[in-house]
Amino acid sequence: MRHLLSTKDLSRDDAIMILDVAEDMSDVQLREVKKLPTLRGKTVVNLFFEDSTRTRISFELAAKRLSADVINFSAKGSSVSKGESLKDTAQTLAAMGADGVVIRHSSSGSPQLLADSGWIDAGIVNAGDGTHEHPTQALLDAFTMRRRIHGAASRGRDLSGVSVLIVGDILHSRVARSNLWLLRTLGAEVTFVAPATLLPFGAETWPAGIRYDLDAAIAEVNPDVVMMLRIQSERMNAAFFPNPREYARVWGLDDERLARLRPDTIVMHPGPMNRGLEISSRAADSAQSTVIEQVANGVSIRMAVLYLLLSGDREGSA
Ligand code: CP
Repeated sequence: MRHLLSTKDLSRDDAIMILDVAEDMSDVQLREVKKLPTLRGKTVVNLFFEDSTRTRISFELAAKRLSADVINFSAKGSSVSKGESLKDTAQTLAAMGADGVVIRHSSSGSPQLLADSGWIDAGIVNAGDGTHEHPTQALLDAFTMRRRIHGAASRGRDLSGVSVLIVGDILHSRVARSNLWLLRTLGAEVTFVAPATLLPFGAETWPAGIRYDLDAAIAEVNPDVVMMLRIQSERMNAAFFPNPREYARVWGLDDERLARLRPDTIVMHPGPMNRGLEISSRAADSAQSTVIEQVANGVSIRMAVLYLLLSGDREGSA
């Protein structure tokens, strides 16, 4: 792999390889010394034009656990706030010898632009671009599902036959899109459940079921996984539902809906959560919830991705 820009172009074999390498990275994190020398001498730049807690910190930790030098660049407080362009920023990083660039940007396609531009010869990792994709989130979600479902026998396995409900603000969600492509590649069945106002135009052409009634979907799909999405108020410039209380009542995973799930149904959320809106505190903190596991697994997945992109001779890599 040269870059990781999307899950849409990941083959099943590549996806399984990343998940299996992440299992090895997870084993490393159980050791007393949690560090590998693999990326010694390499420089990874975390280029964040949008806010982040989980993704930015876990990429930093992942790079450090692989012994890379890490530069954290936040648009706030940098020359971007003086109007510097992505091109000039990229060329500045190239001059400093960056081997890998992890980029989060509000504009869909920014990581692809960086990868195609020739401004910088580095492995590019998409850490979330607009409403387009968030591939490492989908990989850590798949890793978490695979571990909960297959346990110690996870290596080499896909998610064939697993049914996943993805609920809520699909319209603004790069997590939903990256999960859809990856989960389908791994053999899972995906159903989107949302109010019509929060489904993107053209969603009916995607390889997913579409439902508008969460209670009916829980009863009829009887899902293995329920993934609740954050309401992305910061991307909303209109009223997409009557009010937060109404949204929680109709679309939220509240205590009563939690009780109606099978005891082995997994409850996921990529974070950050709006507790009391799309998910109740009881659901978020229940034994069925994988919210904390997802964060921990994010470090293993990001170690695997950085290792696979940066550990070899990049000129000779695919
Ligand atoms: N899930 C996720 O991308 O979280 P952050 O925005 O905190 O990175």
